Amino acid sequence: MPNTSTTFMGLQLRNPVIVGSSGLTRSLEKVKECEAAGAGAVVLKSLFEEVLAAKDFGVKDSVMDHSEAYDYYFAHLELLYGSKDYTDMIKAAKAATTIPIIASINCVSTKWWPDFAVQVESAGADALGLNVFTTATDLTMDSNKLEELYYEILSTVKEKISIPVALKIGPWFSALPHLAVEFGQRKLDGLVLFNRFTQPDIDINEMKLKTGFSFSSESEVALPLRWTALMSHYLPYDICATTGVKTSENVIKLLLAGASSVQVASVLYEQGLGAIGEMVAGLEKWMSEKGFENINDFKGKLNFHNAAVPSHYLRAQFMEKIAEYE
Ligand SMILES: Cc1cc2nc3c(=O)[nH]c(=O)nc-3n(C[C@H](O)[C@H](O)[C@H](O)COP(=O)(O)O)c2cc1C
Repeated sequence: MPNTSTTFMGLQLRNPVIVGSSGLTRSLEKVKECEAAGAGAVVLKSLFEEVLAAKDFGVKDSVMDHSEAYDYYFAHLELLYGSKDYTDMIKAAKAATTIPIIASINCVSTKWWPDFAVQVESAGADALGLNVFTTATDLTMDSNKLEELYYEILSTVKEKISIPVALKIGPWFSALPHLAVEFGQRKLDGLVLFNRFTQPDIDINEMKLKTGFSFSSESEVALPLRWTALMSHYLPYDICATTGVKTSENVIKLLLAGASSVQVASVLYEQGLGAIGEMVAGLEKWMSEKGFENINDFKGKLNFHNAAVPSHYLRAQFMEKIAEYE
């Protein structure tokens, strides 16, 4: 039987299939189910700053309302009590399972990231994923300034904790490889490519805005595949690919492109947790057929650096491919 063990952020995983942050990892029971289904690791449902901020801790009508002191006091209450359920779950998951438990936080204001990070480390999380997204709407803010925000979040969190830290980012950067190298210089331990977002939509009857959400489709895997392949050889940390991963074929392709693991969510909502076992079994079968004993025997074999025809990763408008449909 081939050995499917791999790494993410330096953590040892029994296989590359990680259950991504979602409702599938939001409670101790669900985390135990993921482990029983064969997951290599789990990323807990993100702790969202906005959700904490929306909680009423019973001080809103106090004399401090609207003052700066109130903001400060309120934020500390959130930190003390709002995230307690989360840290309790980390402790319980660590006690009840043996797979790596990766916490995940999503903050809007830079100042609170390090405080949450310290809390999840103290609770015993094996690692921390930072789910960062900023929509560029400020006409005076150039891409350097926007990227500085990511560096600042990463550096301040890395200063405060010693467990490994990953960034989960979206695909919209003008020079992603440069950004990824800069992350490495700030001691990033893993990069998750890419987060998938809800999208704004317009109701044409009501003439109102609404938010659209759907599970991913398999065709979306092409985007993380391309960028994993373009960057994996040059980065000092692990890449974990996500979005559109549905089958063992997808997992194998992403490993060949240089990812060391994948994260899945949509397929598990659609097909149940049994899809984890199918992906791992398909990977083992393929490795046996190809004579690979370990993931490192083929990881990155078809990345941009190693591929015989790397231009496939560069050209976005292959005329001969388009012509087939014209
Ligand atoms: C119902 C649902 C809830 C999610 N919640 C989170 C979350 O809290 N934090 C996060 O970083 N990603 C969240 N995600 C994104 C997933 O972790 C994953 O990155 C994304 O869905 C792409 O993977 P997929 O194509 O396998 O669904 C969520 C996805 C789904 C479907």
